[in-house]
Amino acid sequence: MIGVLLLLFLLPFLLYIAAPQIRKMLSSGVCTSTVQLPGKVAVVTGANTGIGKETAKELAQRGARVYLACRDVQKGELVAREIQIMTGNQQVLVRKLDLADTKSIRAFAKGFLAEEKHLHILINNAGVMMCPYSKTADGFEMHIGVNHLGHFLLTHLLLEKLKESAPSRVVNVSSLAHHLGRIHFHNLQGEKFYHAGLAYCHSKLANILFTQELARRLKGSGVTTYSVHPGTVNSELVRHSYLMRWIWWLFSFFIKTSQQGAQTSLYCALTEGLEVLNGNHFSDCHVAWVSAQARNETVARRLWDVSCDLLGIPVD
Ligand SMILES: NC(=O)c1ccc[n+]([C@@H]2O[C@H](COP(=O)([O-])OP(=O)(O)OC[C@H]3O[C@@H](n4cnc5c(N)ncnc54)[C@H](OP(=O)(O)O)[C@@H]3O)[C@@H](O)[C@H]2O)c1
Ligand SMILES: *[C@@H]1O[C@H](CO)[C@@H](O)[C@H](O)[C@H]1NC(C)=O
Ligand SMILES: *[C@@H]1O[C@H](CO)[C@@H](O)[C@H](O)[C@H]1NC(C)=O
Repeated sequence: MIGVLLLLFLLPFLLYIAAPQIRKMLSSGVCTSTVQLPGKVAVVTGANTGIGKETAKELAQRGARVYLACRDVQKGELVAREIQIMTGNQQVLVRKLDLADTKSIRAFAKGFLAEEKHLHILINNAGVMMCPYSKTADGFEMHIGVNHLGHFLLTHLLLEKLKESAPSRVVNVSSLAHHLGRIHFHNLQGEKFYHAGLAYCHSKLANILFTQELARRLKGSGVTTYSVHPGTVNSELVRHSYLMRWIWWLFSFFIKTSQQGAQTSLYCALTEGLEVLNGNHFSDCHVAWVSAQARNETVARRLWDVSCDLLGIPVD
């Protein structure tokens, strides 16, 4: 009896003590690059919390001028202050970017292009997951609109600057969830049917298809691009789903911290010589397998054209 009781209390306690070690074991993949970034310029979208915040912090730690592109400037400013204090790098700047509104994206790009000569690292990190059916200012379904189309437009607007700053890199934060994704061209905006979980998967598949198509188009330009699965990370991403929040809470001992979740983004942004793996997908700081859908060049090309069409970008 006492044994059972002891076990009942001791076990959670031991688990609690061992949690950091367990988490470490389950989250292999650390960016070991020692590259420093003085004079380099980086933009991180969704940098006010979660994986984006930790990514921005590390880039600042290495001396880059880092732009936190956030939809909530106030939240962004608090984080910028925190990063400045922690890293001693004052070059951490907040700019307004709402990826659910193409006007905001264009305004951000215009401002950035006017004030900066270079862009060496673009991290398309912001994302929404499992939000109830809703639309962006331009009438796009929220997941495809923010996670894919918003970043598509942003990358397009910053591309010349990236080319001028070569060697430069674009990192797209996708997800393992892309395996369940499909691109339904007849229902891209989820109007015929909608499932919040699947909508997330579709948008994350779109991220990978775009990374590959972009890599093909940018060959020889000195701009390389990578997509990333950060791992299962204890961030605010699950905020829209009670069930997911509960599952995340239940497993919170074992899933990655945001700092661990940032490692693969950092690996792709920093590792020297990674250019030979242009267009690849990474997880735990290694090349990772993507679904057959995600390797389909026909779908990638068509999605590219459709996206240009939706955003009023001339198709080439
Ligand atoms: N967590 C995981 O387990 C996991 C797994 C696979 C992939 N990912 C991917 O990792 C990336 C980062 O997610 P996270 O886990 O760090 O989640 P998070 O803590 O929820 O952070 C998401 C960030 O995106 C921003 N954002 C959302 N909508 C936006 C919009 N319309 N315009 C501009 N910014 C917007 C959020 O800003 P606000 O704070 O203002 O809302 C926040 O800064 C996402 O692309 C996600 O799909 C995460
Ligand atoms: C990924 O990369 C493409 C091309 O740069 C971009 O247009 C797309 O929207 C990006 N998505 C995200 C969220 O990373
Ligand atoms: C790519 O996808 C299209 C449409 O879903 C399909 O018809 C085609 O067979 C696929 N191609 C490959 C190589 O898988």
